[in-house]
Amino acid sequence: MNLAIFLSGAGSNFLAIHEAIKVGRLDARIALVVGNNVGVQGLRVAHELGLYTLAFDRIQNDRGRLQAEIQKRDVDLIVLAGFLRKLRPDIIRAYPRRIVNIHPSLLPKYGGKGMYGLNVHRAVIAAGETETGVTVHYVDEQYDHGEIIDQCAVPVLGDDTPETLAARVLAVEHVFYSAVLQRIGKELADG
Ligand code: GRF
Repeated sequence: MNLAIFLSGAGSNFLAIHEAIKVGRLDARIALVVGNNVGVQGLRVAHELGLYTLAFDRIQNDRGRLQAEIQKRDVDLIVLAGFLRKLRPDIIRAYPRRIVNIHPSLLPKYGGKGMYGLNVHRAVIAAGETETGVTVHYVDEQYDHGEIIDQCAVPVLGDDTPETLAARVLAVEHVFYSAVLQRIGKELADG
């Protein structure tokens, strides 16, 4: 399974996927890494690892370029890993059930516009939740809305701050995303 990973930040999920492939837990290849812009940390790391990289802001107005790159590199699955930009509807429509995202809450709770980073965990704590988690879902044209593929619960502790909760959830993401991708890869291979 050839993956295109899209990221906007530190890229810790990207690195976890890269590591899972290296140790044989995920049978896949990273064919392409797309970052918001050239300054994104995850993109720099991908480049240093020798992966093929593209900056989204340089190609987003070039209609057809992204799809051409995806086709050229035989991408089977587009993996959003902390990608904060919206993909154009024509891209989303071109790849039904071929674009996945990870979100740090139990969707549909704490998803949607503005629900990213610490905002999610602040809202979870403010609501007095005792449980939060991680969701991997297919991407459609609305934020955090597509069909849920799988979820994993994470406890909220009494003395949690948004930062401690974020760290606990992120550690789960790093294991969970690769495991779900491995299952998707099997499904794609089985047709
Ligand atoms: C993760 O919490 C992910 O769930 C969300 O964005 C964050 C990305 O973190 N969509 P990183 O860049 O992978 O470290």
